[in-house]
Amino acid sequence: METDEAYFESYGDVAVHRLMIQDAVRTDAYRRAIEQLVEPGMRVLDVGAGSGILSLFAARAGAEHVHAVDRSAIIELAKKLAKTNGLADRITFQRGLVEEQEITPPVDLVVSEWFGFFGLAETMFKSFVHARELFLAPGGSTLPARFSLHVAPIQSEVLYCERGPGLWETPVYGFDFEQLVDVELMELEATSVVIPPDVYLAAPVAVLDLDCCEAAVGDYFFDAHVEFEFERSGVLHGFAGHFDSELAPGVVLSTSSLGPETHWRQTYFPIRKRDVRAGDCLRLRMQALDAERGDKRLPIYLFEGELERAGERVDRFFYKVDATFE
Ligand SMILES: C[S@@+](CC[C@H](N)C(=O)[O-])C[C@H]1O[C@@H](n2cnc3c(N)ncnc32)[C@H](O)[C@@H]1O
Repeated sequence: METDEAYFESYGDVAVHRLMIQDAVRTDAYRRAIEQLVEPGMRVLDVGAGSGILSLFAARAGAEHVHAVDRSAIIELAKKLAKTNGLADRITFQRGLVEEQEITPPVDLVVSEWFGFFGLAETMFKSFVHARELFLAPGGSTLPARFSLHVAPIQSEVLYCERGPGLWETPVYGFDFEQLVDVELMELEATSVVIPPDVYLAAPVAVLDLDCCEAAVGDYFFDAHVEFEFERSGVLHGFAGHFDSELAPGVVLSTSSLGPETHWRQTYFPIRKRDVRAGDCLRLRMQALDAERGDKRLPIYLFEGELERAGERVDRFFYKVDATFE
């Protein structure tokens, strides 16, 4: 998205909200969490209300009042839907940036579905954190409650060729296109794809684990040092990433390859392929940086790896991978 205007315009499209509401893993997890946390008489803030679905859940669960805030035009439809469903008297719809609203008195619960691909794309967590700091009463809670990110090394020739530089490594219709490998390696992009469980070369490990009621904006941009021991020999084609979130105690929304598919799928981070052996140890430093240039809603990921075999370093790499909206 080139501007924030384009970003909010995209959320004016009902089809985007259809996609999210149709994702029953997502929407039903939010419904269960809201029904667990909302008690009669509570005041709730819905950050980025969209179609208003989470506000409707909260009002139906007995909230005394819900503030539904969205900068996008979709909020006009949300208002009509609340009226049709007899809940308009307990939901106030406010169009604009949540950061610029006046909401008094403070609320007991801040609800928000702010997850982009690999959780962080769109960086909407910034608005969620600001809203929590501005409008949550002392002792109040947030939904989601926790957020974590996980990565693992994978072997997938298919992803490497379709979503990475692999296509150029073999002749293209009989022509040598190999110099494009280096061009692609300079502008690697993360993409949202289904990553089957059988391509993992080691189990995923957490690179971030946050308490959403406490974490500051800066905490979401992480610098993690993790280790993997390869469970089998093969070819490392990059990394798989996914996020999990405990929305409320015992209500977990997972986007792992092992769970049911969600519209976020998993995320593939390509790197140049390299051979690995069972028992090799990969020390990985992964960072998520706030973009200073270009699209500020897309973080930048850095991967710095050292491969050890029988205690000796046999390989090193460094790659920058940009987040995308797909
Ligand atoms: C992922 S959608 C979630 C919509 C809805 N809550 C749901 O669960 O179906 C995020 C929504 O947040 C809105 N949004 C993002 N940042 C915002 C901000 N700073 N202020 C107000 N609305 C925002 C977008 O316009 C979009 O409608």
